[in-house]
Amino acid sequence: MAVETVTMDQIVSLSRRRGFVFPSSEIYGGLGSTYDYGHYGVLLKNNIRQRWFEAMVLERDDIVALDSAVILHPRVWEASGHVEGFTDPLVDCRTCKLRFRADKLEDSQCGRKPSKHPGEFSECDLTEPRQFNLMFQTTVGPVEDSGSRAYLRPETAQGIFINFKNVLQLARRRPPFGIAQIGRSFRNEITPGNFLFRVREFEQMEMEFFVPPPDSDRWYRYWIDERLGWYLRYGLRRSRLRVREHGPEERSHYSRGTSDIEYEYPIGWSELEGVANRGDFDLTRHTEYSTTKLEYVGPDGERYVPHVIEPAVSLERIIVAMLVDAYDEEVVGERERTVLRLHPEIAPVTAAILPLIAKDEGMVSKARTLYEELRKRQSVEYDDNGAIGRRYRRQDEIGTPWAFTIDEQTLSDDTVTVRDRDSLAQERLPIGGVRAWLEDALERDWKTPKGD
Ligand code: GAP
Repeated sequence: MAVETVTMDQIVSLSRRRGFVFPSSEIYGGLGSTYDYGHYGVLLKNNIRQRWFEAMVLERDDIVALDSAVILHPRVWEASGHVEGFTDPLVDCRTCKLRFRADKLEDSQCGRKPSKHPGEFSECDLTEPRQFNLMFQTTVGPVEDSGSRAYLRPETAQGIFINFKNVLQLARRRPPFGIAQIGRSFRNEITPGNFLFRVREFEQMEMEFFVPPPDSDRWYRYWIDERLGWYLRYGLRRSRLRVREHGPEERSHYSRGTSDIEYEYPIGWSELEGVANRGDFDLTRHTEYSTTKLEYVGPDGERYVPHVIEPAVSLERIIVAMLVDAYDEEVVGERERTVLRLHPEIAPVTAAILPLIAKDEGMVSKARTLYEELRKRQSVEYDDNGAIGRRYRRQDEIGTPWAFTIDEQTLSDDTVTVRDRDSLAQERLPIGGVRAWLEDALERDWKTPKGD
C-alpha cells in the first residue's frame, strides 16, 4: 500500500537524516530558508540537471547551450522591466516588526502565539502595502556609489536574450531555434519557505525558443506538452500534475500567455514550472536600450523580431516534487521501511554492492572488483557496514533501485543476487553480466508502483 499523503515534514526530515539537504549556516544559528546540499542531494541534483539537459539540448537539433554571467550590465535589468516592475507588495507590522507579502497574508503566520494570520490579533498594526523590489543589489569594484550598483540576476533568461546575436551568428540558425541555460538565480523573497519550494537562491533551468511570430501559439502549446511529458517520463504521477493557464490579470508584464505546470505539493497545487509566450518583448526592449538590433535576417533579406516561448523551472521545485512523489512507507515482514521510489535515472545511487559478510575476504574481494568495474560508468555505492537488512533499508531510504549481494554461493558459482527496491524481488545472475544487466535495466521504461 502506497502512502497517500506525504507531508513536508517527512520530506524535510528524510532529507536531513540521509544528508540530502541541510539548513545552511546552522552552527551560526541558521539563515532562514537557505539550504546546503549534502552528498546525495548533489548526486540527485546532477541527475535532474543532466536529464533536463539531455531532453532540452542533447536529444535535439534545434537548441544550443549557454552559460552567462550572474552579474550583468545594470541596464539589462532596466530593459527587462525588472528595476521598475519586479516587485511584490510588502506590509510591515508596527507591533511585531515582521514583514509580510500583502497579497499572501492568508499564507503567512503572525509572530504571536497562538499562531494566526497577520492582522487577525487586535494588536496587529499593518502599514499600507508598498512595492518591494526582489532583486539583490551589490556593487562592482572598490567604490560604492550609484554608478557601481549592480544586481544578482533574478532569472537566467536575460543572459540568453543579450547573447541572441552571438548565438544566431555563430550557429547560423533560423527560427525556430532555442538557447538553454542552467544557473543560479537570486530573489530577495519577502516570505520564502516551504522547504526548497521558495528560496532566495535557486538553480534555474530555462530555455528561450525563438519562433516566427505567426507560429508562436503553436509552439507555446508544443512546449507545454513537451515539458509535461518530461515529468511523466521521469516518473511523476499524472494525477499529481496539471496545467493551469493564467488569466490576463495574473500574467507578467512581458507575457502574451502563461501556463503553469502545477504539482500537488503538500502545500496544495502550486507552480512547478512556467511556460510563457513572451512575444517580442525582450528582444525589442534590448534593441531599444542597447541600440544593437536583435532580429533575424534571412539569406533572402527577410527580417523580423522572433517571438519567444520560454519553459522555466528551478531544480529546487523539481526536487521537492520528485521527493514527495517518491516517498513511501510500508511494512515488510513486520518491519517498517521508508523507501524513495525515484526513477532509476534520477536516483542518487544506481546500485549498491553489498558483500554479505564483511569479514569474508573472498566475498569482499569479489564485491570490490564488481564495484570498481561498475563505478566507472554509474553512481554505485559499496557498503559492508552492519546487517544486510539494515543495509537494504539504508539504500531504500535514498532510493537506490538495485542492490547486488555477494554471498556464499558467489564464491562457488560466480553468481550474485540482485534485489529490486520496489518489488523486493530477488534473482540470481552471473557476476560477469551485472554491468550489461544494469545498462539494460536503465534503458527499460519505469513506472512508479505508487500508481497513476
Ligand atoms: N524567466 C521567467 C521566470 O523566471 P518565474 O515564474 O518567476 O519566471 C520560473 O520563475 C520558475 O523558477 C518557477 O516556475 C519556479 O520553478 C522557479 N522559481 C521561481 N522563484 C523561485 C524561488 N524563490 N524558489 C525556488 N524556485 C523558484
